[in-house]
Amino acid sequence: MIKTENLTRTYGKGEGKVVALDGVSLTINDGEMVAIIGKSGSGKSTLLNLIGGLDKPTEGRIFYNDKEIGSMKDSELSELRLKNVGFVFQFFDLIPELTAEENVLLPSRLAKNKDAGADELYKALDIGDRVKHYPSELSGGQQQRAAIARALINSPDVILCDEPTGNLDRASGEEVMALLKRLNSEQGRTVIIVTHDRGIAEQCGRIIEISDGKIV
Ligand SMILES: Nc1ncnc2c1ncn2[C@@H]1O[C@H](COP(=O)(O)OP(=O)(O)OP(=O)(O)O)[C@@H](O)[C@H]1O
Ligand SMILES: [Mg+2]
Repeated sequence: MIKTENLTRTYGKGEGKVVALDGVSLTINDGEMVAIIGKSGSGKSTLLNLIGGLDKPTEGRIFYNDKEIGSMKDSELSELRLKNVGFVFQFFDLIPELTAEENVLLPSRLAKNKDAGADELYKALDIGDRVKHYPSELSGGQQQRAAIARALINSPDVILCDEPTGNLDRASGEEVMALLKRLNSEQGRTVIIVTHDRGIAEQCGRIIEISDGKIV
């Protein structure tokens, strides 16, 4: 279970202060598939980054199974992020000096996982023939799919996706959604998807809408 309590994130001070997230409390149960929707700038990525332990809240707390991540040691948080949480970034964030395959396998090597099941992922994501290439040699959609494979390589229980279909054509987007739905329904993984696409959101079990940093 993931729980947030009064999560607030502000940037800057005084006149230039931006309240990106304003007191968000929510609970996401194990095995849920949840969409977070809202307008551009409403705080969706901010919320997802906090849930993923990539950023720290200005106020409030985040719990994974009753353990507050703010109280974890750096090594504990790194372990959680490496093994239990898969994160798909809005702008892919592939490492440019590594091939797609090296990007995908990086988390499994860090976690010392032997059988990564990478080939199955390439097949499911239809990038098998492109994985020896560098990100700059791939289309946006292919980079997106490589980033998704990287998020899934360690079989995380929690999959956090920031606009996972934002750079894909309709058919590829539907395939990615089908894969995420399978991971959720057949394997009980918790999936949280940030999207501005109602059609994507409506395929999830629950929709959380945020506006100006608050849940509406
Ligand atoms: N590092 C930062 N410094 C200052 N303001 C920031 C920073 N990061 C985000 N913001 C501001 O916080 C607010 C929320 O940003 P966020 O990226 O969470 O929006 P979003 O809902 O993900 O938008 P989009 O749909 O465009 O991706 C915005 O007003 C944004 O300009
Ligand atoms: Mg965003």
